[in-house]
Amino acid sequence: MEQNQKNEAPPPAVVSGGITRQSDCAESVPEPCGIIIFGASGDLTHRKLIPALFHLDQGNLLPDQWYVVGIGRTAMDDEGFRKTVAQSLEALPAARSASPSPRNAFMSRFYYLAGDSHDPEYYPFLKERLIQLDQNNRTGGNRLIYLATPPSLYSEIIGQLGTAGLNRSSGKGWTRIIIEKPFGADLESARALNRQVRAAFREEQVYRIDHFLGKEAVQNILFFRFANTIFEPIWNRRYIDHVQVTAAERLGVERRAGYYESAGALRDMFQNHLLQLLCVVGMEPPASFEAEAIRDEKTKVLRSVRPISAEEVDRFAVRGQYQAGLIEDRPVVGYQSEPGVAPQSHTETFAALKLYVDNWRWQGVPFYLRSGKRLAKKATEIAIEFKQVPHLLFKPLFSEKIEPNTLVLSVQPSEGISLTFQAKRPGAKLCMGSVTMDFNYHGAFQVPSPDAYERLLLDCLAGDPMLFSREEWIDWSWSILAPVLNRWKESAASSLPSYEAGSWGPKEADELIERDGRHWRSP
Ligand code: BG6
Repeated sequence: MEQNQKNEAPPPAVVSGGITRQSDCAESVPEPCGIIIFGASGDLTHRKLIPALFHLDQGNLLPDQWYVVGIGRTAMDDEGFRKTVAQSLEALPAARSASPSPRNAFMSRFYYLAGDSHDPEYYPFLKERLIQLDQNNRTGGNRLIYLATPPSLYSEIIGQLGTAGLNRSSGKGWTRIIIEKPFGADLESARALNRQVRAAFREEQVYRIDHFLGKEAVQNILFFRFANTIFEPIWNRRYIDHVQVTAAERLGVERRAGYYESAGALRDMFQNHLLQLLCVVGMEPPASFEAEAIRDEKTKVLRSVRPISAEEVDRFAVRGQYQAGLIEDRPVVGYQSEPGVAPQSHTETFAALKLYVDNWRWQGVPFYLRSGKRLAKKATEIAIEFKQVPHLLFKPLFSEKIEPNTLVLSVQPSEGISLTFQAKRPGAKLCMGSVTMDFNYHGAFQVPSPDAYERLLLDCLAGDPMLFSREEWIDWSWSILAPVLNRWKESAASSLPSYEAGSWGPKEADELIERDGRHWRSP
């Protein structure tokens, strides 16, 4: 068991792994370490990783000794890399308002070693440099390797790290590796990648990242479910009619056509983020609040998902592609006219799925999942719709159907929980209306939520894999999607439904749920 306590921290009540627990708080406390980023000049590094490290540093959440080595093909020295780090900080309000000395101290922790990740001769140099930096920075040989490159480079880098002995640290330190999504492009490629990972690293060294799990509102779902008594007894097929999971975006493909053209909405959003949300909502109470117990329960949810047969795909899955339309009254082009997209592209920018979780708790309850680009608004939420009242006591008074109770777990843009129920409107007449009880994170706690990458980096530095995906989870997630991917691949040339940018997706997605007598919510 690792014990990662910061010197200044008061004596902990309980220490387990890298988590320090005190009264009602638990804190991930990282150890000194070097962070090695492959893909150092890429978008992810500059838009997510550097800002996350800066905020953690400013919040005194990083250890006293840490450094970053950026790796990329661009020829640059340490100073050149630090200039690019400075540019990334320019975009951060917290960094712009910081005085020069903490900014400079932050930047002085960054180093760079240009090289070609395909070149076996590069790795011994890297090793040499890391040994030096470990010593100079007194990190005890602890290293976190972050693969922030295009996924096509993962296997190569993982293999080379293994061959060069960079899969373990010299001395007593640990080595961990973070692998970004997408993890594979289908079941076979994900399994092949997992085999390569396994040949070089032990499973406990591997952190497959899904940034949705680092979002505060997603973590809160576990607290909501398992730190309260009132909802868990009704969290099942007896009371819940169905569940809707929506991850809608206003943005289009932006400048990511190179990746997105071969991915599409199902690989980009479902294999990871939406299935993770399904698991958090659908899982059984874990035996303890520990990584393996929680990851076991999440895997059990995926194992229980009813496989979609090839014949059923068209009734259980819908795809779509956006056409020109209006986003916030501004005209936008259709997907096929986006830069880098093939004019006849069959890539889906929207997908909707109906899944059943065949277990004691969820038998017969459909989970409707949808996600798309260029939709009417940015909104990620899970809506739990409860069953109708068993007896319509008010039927003679009201001709309309009573709206069922709905519990909405909002992930973004607003983070919170709301419960809708029926109430009598005030007045002499008997009138009924839907009202909502709202909990809003910002209103309640008055602090901004940290970015998901801050949480996930911190957890990885502290050796807590709870919010990362295990090999078997990845395997199951691809198995669930395989029939849909196969069917869509076969029928790529036939019609792909389209939808207008700024709408809620193709009409076929409405039909998917309306066939069951239900409707999508408007988030
Ligand atoms: C990423 C996808 O994983 O998640 C993107 O690759 C998508 O296509 C993004 O835009 C959505 O994340 P968020 O946090 O902005 O909802």
